[in-house]
Amino acid sequence: MKPFPKKIVCIGAGYVGGPTMAVIADRCPEIEVTVVDLNADRIAAWNSAQLPVYEPGLAAVVGRARGRNLFFIGQGDGAKKMAEADLVFISVNTPTKTEGEGAGKASDLRYVESCAQFISEHARGHTIVVEKSTMPVRAADTIKRILAKNSHGGSFEVLSNPEFLAEGTAIRDLEAPDRVLIGGERPEPIEALASVYRRWVPAERIITTGLWSAELAKLAANAFLAQRVSSINALSALCEVTGAHVDEVARVVGSDSRIGPKFLKASVGFGGSCFKKDILSLVYLCEFHGVPEAAAYWQQVVDLNEWQKRRFADQIIRQLGAAKGKVAVLGLAFKKDTNDFRESAALDICRQLMAAGLEVVSYDPRVDFAEFCQSAGIARGMQPAHTVREALSGASAVAVLTEWEEFRSIDWASMSLVPNAVIYDGRNILDPEMIRRANLLLHSIGGRDSD
Ligand code: NAD
Ligand code: UGA
Repeated sequence: MKPFPKKIVCIGAGYVGGPTMAVIADRCPEIEVTVVDLNADRIAAWNSAQLPVYEPGLAAVVGRARGRNLFFIGQGDGAKKMAEADLVFISVNTPTKTEGEGAGKASDLRYVESCAQFISEHARGHTIVVEKSTMPVRAADTIKRILAKNSHGGSFEVLSNPEFLAEGTAIRDLEAPDRVLIGGERPEPIEALASVYRRWVPAERIITTGLWSAELAKLAANAFLAQRVSSINALSALCEVTGAHVDEVARVVGSDSRIGPKFLKASVGFGGSCFKKDILSLVYLCEFHGVPEAAAYWQQVVDLNEWQKRRFADQIIRQLGAAKGKVAVLGLAFKKDTNDFRESAALDICRQLMAAGLEVVSYDPRVDFAEFCQSAGIARGMQPAHTVREALSGASAVAVLTEWEEFRSIDWASMSLVPNAVIYDGRNILDPEMIRRANLLLHSIGGRDSD
């Protein structure tokens, strides 16, 4: 086995595959990194000035490496590259199954299986296959079974190297990760992959474990993060009826060094492509392996989140009542600094507001409005605005759903909202004093309403 991989292929040019491979290529100019995807439009976008993923710092990293040792190619050209590869990352989507055994909870491994099939058909010699996608524990067994059918006499090692980057900070997270996790069964392939990361990650941040622990640790890490958000959101509801303020409660709780301050920001509900699907995958694994009590515990993290989103929309619908009126939605992305709206709270909340017969106008600086409406199943009725000012004009209620920086400094007094309009701050980012001075009313999550 070559001690240091010279040729890497990554299958999947999405939010993880694209930025991760760009950083590897940037940091390891002597490695040829090729990213393959079925989606020809996505590949074309990676090869253009308009990258398919918005991430601060990404364009600069891609600009340095693309065409030098970073290549984005279609599936048709992938077979030849696969035959030359020392190391192959599988970085495709692992959504929740929609049919069959475990539908609604278990991870759908069909895309992973088709990658394993592709590798099995085209790889030559010895190849290290790396699970970069988030997988259920023991998924490597499935991959190994498919690889074993290889007809070229090739040999394989399977590693688990789950990704911990968060969107909006992906480049920072990849360049200076808290940890890199490599799970495997034998030291040599683990060392080969670790040698790549050691080019820029301090050795003490590279954690090695068994395969199954690595697969499960990734699901566990997301479950813990989401659980903190659901915990603080559960408290936000109690704050609203008792006069306590959730930000004050979070500050006190988080200043205990055993707990820490991160992931205690109450919100309209967590979103993103992974928290919900990964927790549901964990729930399914618990059920499948005969621990229903543990399944019920994790299920509650998701249920609380669904309730938080509903609760927020219900408050707006109740306030506007029969008067109906226009609601301005500020922010469609699931968090700031990304164009990603998968599972964003805005999807559910916009749907609910529309179903209640309200007029909804939305503004987001990065999200593609048409794609959002299509994904939300909103065929017509919701209107796009090109600026905050346009969105707020004539609004009776405003729902701030993403914490974009530009929303913090809105000059409320200069906007033409209807008198006594209520601002629903789903992120607790607005200055109550500025809202009050503009003669508007504020409802914050887990806060005290202005009178
Ligand atoms: P994504 O949907 O953005 O990208 C996946 C890509 O894989 C798509 O472009 C798709 O066309 C391609 N693909 C699917 N099957 C293919 C095949 N057989 N051959 C070639 N290409 C194929 O997904 P993502 O957000 O990048 O997530 C990928 C994995 O990483 C998931 O398991 C996810 O849970 C995990 N993850 C995501 C994040 C994140 O922030 N998005 C962070 C950590 C881990
Ligand atoms: C999350 C994890 O943070 C990453 O470590 C992981 O790699 C990734 O999932 C994944 O596996 O996909 P991401 O979903 O990109 O990353 O973003 P987060 O910063 O975790 O935010 C998730 C959601 O929780 C967002 O909607 C955010 O607004 C919300 N959130 C986060 C809160 O409501 N309150 C908080 O205190 C923190």
